[in-house]
Amino acid sequence: MNTATQATLHQSRSIERIVQGIATSDGAGVSLTRVLTGKLQRRLDPFLMLDAFGSDDPDDYIAGFPDHPHRGFETITYMLHGRMRHRDSAGHEGLLQNGGMQWMVAGRGAIHSEIPEQEEGVMEGFQLWLNLPAQTKMAEPWYRDFPSETIPQYVTQNGVTVRVIAGSSNGVAGAMTREITEPLYLDIHVPAGAEFSSAIPQTHNAFIYVYRGAVQVGDTRVEAQRMGILSNTEGADGITLTATEDARLILIAGKPLNEPIVQYGPFVMNTQQEISQALDDFRSGRFA
Ligand code: CO
Repeated sequence: MNTATQATLHQSRSIERIVQGIATSDGAGVSLTRVLTGKLQRRLDPFLMLDAFGSDDPDDYIAGFPDHPHRGFETITYMLHGRMRHRDSAGHEGLLQNGGMQWMVAGRGAIHSEIPEQEEGVMEGFQLWLNLPAQTKMAEPWYRDFPSETIPQYVTQNGVTVRVIAGSSNGVAGAMTREITEPLYLDIHVPAGAEFSSAIPQTHNAFIYVYRGAVQVGDTRVEAQRMGILSNTEGADGITLTATEDARLILIAGKPLNEPIVQYGPFVMNTQQEISQALDDFRSGRFA
């Protein structure tokens, strides 16, 4: 494991707002919490959606997500616990499990399924939707699986463990780097009482989601199952947080696209006309 020295920040961002997700279900009846909803797409541009799923009751996940299309954005699925089989219309297949991640660029269109390959035990993880810039929304679709051992990880002198899924943190480059939106995606484990800092570019929108324990950012406590939207304070060059108890959280940041967002279910384009085209293409079998 790498060791890293934490950034010394000039000023930390603060928590602008705490968001409690909405319990919902998707796919063929998978129970999940939609943390980043449509109403926050503009504020958290370039991110379109964050779903958190976590249950030890198979009824909550067993049905999975049968064949469905996507167009115009990227999906990042990070599995903390569990096994899910992925298949797409181009004949690709992969297994996502315990600590692994799948990065998919839907581009002009992919039809895929995500089906649990377990009938008992815990299934827990996240799916994040990252928008594509207008000029690459119709690019060729592709995806890549990152088994757990291929995700770079570091530990700080005070015992904070960080998995760098995308971007780079405290000098450690992550599993994926994307241009234009420059996403940063960290999974952070902070022992009780420890402090953690990471730089975040001032141009980026950013948030944390705590999934175990609780953290303190400035004057604000963020409990488990809560998202904290980070302020875009002028001069703030990152985040410093302290775990009030043993805590696990994800930190996500990205550079806004500032382009029109028009969503219809699994299609996210820039205009209504492009959505109509997506529906037309899907119905007439033009998705690969
Ligand atoms: Co999907």
